[in-house]
Amino acid sequence: MFKQLYHYLCRQNPYLMTKPVEGFSKWTKEEKIDWIAAQYTLDPEAAKTLLKSYLNSDAKLQQLHDEFIENTITNYYLPLGIAPNFLINEKLYAIPMAIEESSVVAAASRAAKFWLDRGGFKTDVLGTEKIGQVHFLYQGDVAKLRAFFIEIKDKLIADAAPITKNMEKRGGGIIGVELRDKTSELENYFQLHCAFETLDAMGANFINSCLEQFAQTLQREAKNYDAFTEDERNIEVVMSILSNYVPNCLVRAEVSCPISELTLKASISPKDFANKMVRAIEIAKVEPHRAVTHNKGIMNGIDAVVLATGNDFRAVEAGIHAYAAKDGRYSSLTHAEVEKGVFRFWIEIPMALGTVGGLTNLHPLVKLALEILGNPSAKELMQIVAVAGLAQNFAAVSSLVTTGIQEGHMKMHLLNILNQLGATESEKNILITHFKKNTVTHSAVVEAFDQLKSKS
Ligand code: MEV
Repeated sequence: MFKQLYHYLCRQNPYLMTKPVEGFSKWTKEEKIDWIAAQYTLDPEAAKTLLKSYLNSDAKLQQLHDEFIENTITNYYLPLGIAPNFLINEKLYAIPMAIEESSVVAAASRAAKFWLDRGGFKTDVLGTEKIGQVHFLYQGDVAKLRAFFIEIKDKLIADAAPITKNMEKRGGGIIGVELRDKTSELENYFQLHCAFETLDAMGANFINSCLEQFAQTLQREAKNYDAFTEDERNIEVVMSILSNYVPNCLVRAEVSCPISELTLKASISPKDFANKMVRAIEIAKVEPHRAVTHNKGIMNGIDAVVLATGNDFRAVEAGIHAYAAKDGRYSSLTHAEVEKGVFRFWIEIPMALGTVGGLTNLHPLVKLALEILGNPSAKELMQIVAVAGLAQNFAAVSSLVTTGIQEGHMKMHLLNILNQLGATESEKNILITHFKKNTVTHSAVVEAFDQLKSKS
C-alpha cells in the first residue's frame, strides 16, 4: 500500500523518485536493467525477469542487437508475417511484413490472391533521384554569389571525388548541384540544392558526407574569392543534410480488370462495387480527414515491408506524407477510375530505400526477408513496397464500402482479446466458434469467456 502511494507520488513528481543519472551509457546492461527496474517500476523483480526473458540466448546474436543502438536493455519483438501470392510484373512474391496490427497481413494476402487471378500488379520506377541540401546565409550582392557559384561548381564536385569514387564506379554519384536563392522566404537564405543517384544504397551516409564536403569547399573558396567584400566572404553554413522528401525517387503500382471481374462480395454487384471504390477515392482526394486515414491504411502495408527489410520507415513516412500534400492540400495517395468497362486502381509514391548497407547487411532477419524477396535491387524493392501499400488500400477500402471494417477487424481482434484473458487453446476454439455467429465486441468476448469459465 505504502509502496503504491509512493509510486503514485513519484509519477506526479518524478524528481521525488530519483536523482538524474550520471554516466548511464557506460554502465553494463545488467546495471542498466537493475537501475531502471528499481527506480521506475512497481515490481523490480518482475520487471527484470520480463526484460531478461526477451534477451536472446545466443550471446553473439544478442550482442549484435545490443549494439544497434545505445543503452539497450532488451529486445522489442514485432511479429514477422508473410503475405503470399503477390504477382508483380509476372513474378510471384511472398512478402515479409513486420507489424503489430492484427488483420494487416491477412488483408494484404486477401488482396494479393484477388489480383493474382486478374493479371496481378504492374509496377514501374519513374525516377531514383535523391536530394540533399547545404543551407547557408549570405549577405551581399546576389549577382556576385551567382558568379562565384559558377566558378566553384567544378571544385565542389572535384573535392568530393574521394567520397564519390566508388559510387561512380558502380554508375551512381552526384547528378547535379544548383544554387537556390531562398531570400524571398527567409532573409539571406540560400541553398546548394544537390541531386544524387545512390543505386542500391539508401544513401544517407553518402549524401551527407558529400554535402559536408560541399559546405567546406563553399566556405573555403568564398574566403579566397577576390570579388567578394569582407562581409560577403563570410558565408555562414547553417547545416548540410539530405532531404527525406524525394519526389523524383518515384514508384508507381497499378491493378486493373474488366468491371465484370470485380466479383469480390456476393452482396454487391461488380458495377456498384467499382463505382463505390471510385467514389471512396474521390472522397479521400478532397477531404483531408479521410485522406489521412486512407493513407494510414496504405502505410500499414508500406511500413511493414520497409521495417521487415531493414529500411528507415520514418524517412519513408515523412517523404510520402509530404508528397500527399504536394498540391497544397493533403490528399489520397491512390487513384481509381472506371473507363470503357475497365476498373483501374493505382498508387504513385516517392521513397528512398536501400538493399545494401545499413541494417540490410547486419540484421539476420532483414537478410532473410531480402532473401525471401529474391535479394531485390533497391528499385525492385520500391516496387514491392508500393504494391504492399496499394494492396492494403484495396483491402481496406473494399471492406469499408461493403461490409464495413469492423467485421474483419474484430474477428482478428478476438484472438488478441482471448490471449489477454489468458484463454487456453480449447477455450479459444470454443469461443472462436461461438463468435462465428455472434458480433465481436470487447465486452461480449469477456462475458462469453467468463460464462465458459463458470461452466468448467
Ligand atoms: C486501419 O489500420 C486502417 C484503415 O482505417 C484504413 C482506411 O480507413 O482506409 C482501415
